[in-house]
Amino acid sequence: MRITLKNLKRDYGSLHAVQDVSLSIPDNTIYGIIGRSGAGKSTLVRLVSMLEKPDAGEVWYDDERVDGLEGKDLISRRRRIGMIFQNFNLFSSRDAAGNIAYPMEICGMDKEHIKARVDELLGLVGLEGRGNAPISTLSGGQKQRVAIARALACKPDILFCDEATSALDPQTTRSILALIKELQAKMNLTVVMITHQMEVVRDACERVAVLDAGRVVEEGMVSDVFANPRSEVTKDFLSNLTNVKDSIVRWSTEGGRFTLRFRGGTTDEPIISIISNEIGAVFNIRAAGVQEVGGEELGVMVTDIGPDEQHVRIALEMLKKHGVSVEGE
Ligand SMILES: Nc1ncnc2c1ncn2[C@@H]1O[C@H](COP(=O)(O)OP(=O)(O)O)[C@@H](O)[C@H]1O
Ligand SMILES: [Mg+2]
Repeated sequence: MRITLKNLKRDYGSLHAVQDVSLSIPDNTIYGIIGRSGAGKSTLVRLVSMLEKPDAGEVWYDDERVDGLEGKDLISRRRRIGMIFQNFNLFSSRDAAGNIAYPMEICGMDKEHIKARVDELLGLVGLEGRGNAPISTLSGGQKQRVAIARALACKPDILFCDEATSALDPQTTRSILALIKELQAKMNLTVVMITHQMEVVRDACERVAVLDAGRVVEEGMVSDVFANPRSEVTKDFLSNLTNVKDSIVRWSTEGGRFTLRFRGGTTDEPIISIISNEIGAVFNIRAAGVQEVGGEELGVMVTDIGPDEQHVRIALEMLKKHGVSVEGE
């Protein structure tokens, strides 16, 4: 299912939570929407998932306009959508199987079918035989697996994930993202992944939109956006990522004014040597490594450039001419 948003707006009093958002989310993919806290991500997802009506603008699922749906049409359309959240939103009064069964009971599916489907879903999310487990006995990762199984119970076309991994540790986050990727491919889902974590975008998404103060400030293939971030917000997200990424080794705790990112063909040329020979610039490399982004490998180098500002300026120009993206100017 392809999702198209046209000039969406939502105000809360004088606060413009979502301002003029237009996006095209392709079918059968994992699409990331990243932004800081308060950027308007959850508001946007409520508009797109028909939980709330926009003040202006349009939401389309394929060729059907859905933002004005009411009554029965709204209910039947919403059944084709799954959602998961940071805090899981599970019923603590029901066990794992009871939670997964819930949406199917609402749809009026018969007991036999529900039971078979619950077992199938438990298997799909890696919780075989855990149907009787009370929710309170499950770990965060297991709770999110139950929530995913529940979201997928009625075979939706779209899965919305609002900060689905934000309450989980890094290792559990990776396993949940791997599960979502696997299920996306298996069920041809359109997954909309809302997050404030660049790691989530890097590890799971194909395309990404960056939201800031209710507006889309950047949009594109994850590999392009990582290689060549344009907005300040995106650069900020990326610089945090560089600091925590374990395949980037920092051997000097000081310095490192510029972050250079090399992609594809640029990694085959000895660009640093060329620049240093041609203009006599000196590079003091503080950290380096590889980031895998959207299935593409980017070389990353954190460096100082000398001996003076004039050399810095010419060196940066040459780097850019060779297709290297530069951050920190
Ligand atoms: N129901 C609401 N009533 C009033 N203000 C709201 C409501 N929901 C969100 N907001 C405000 O809208 C802005 C965007 O919120 P939200 O969409 O939750 O951002 P995010 O999910 O990116 O953190 C925030 O300033 C928030 O306080
Ligand atoms: Mg939110």
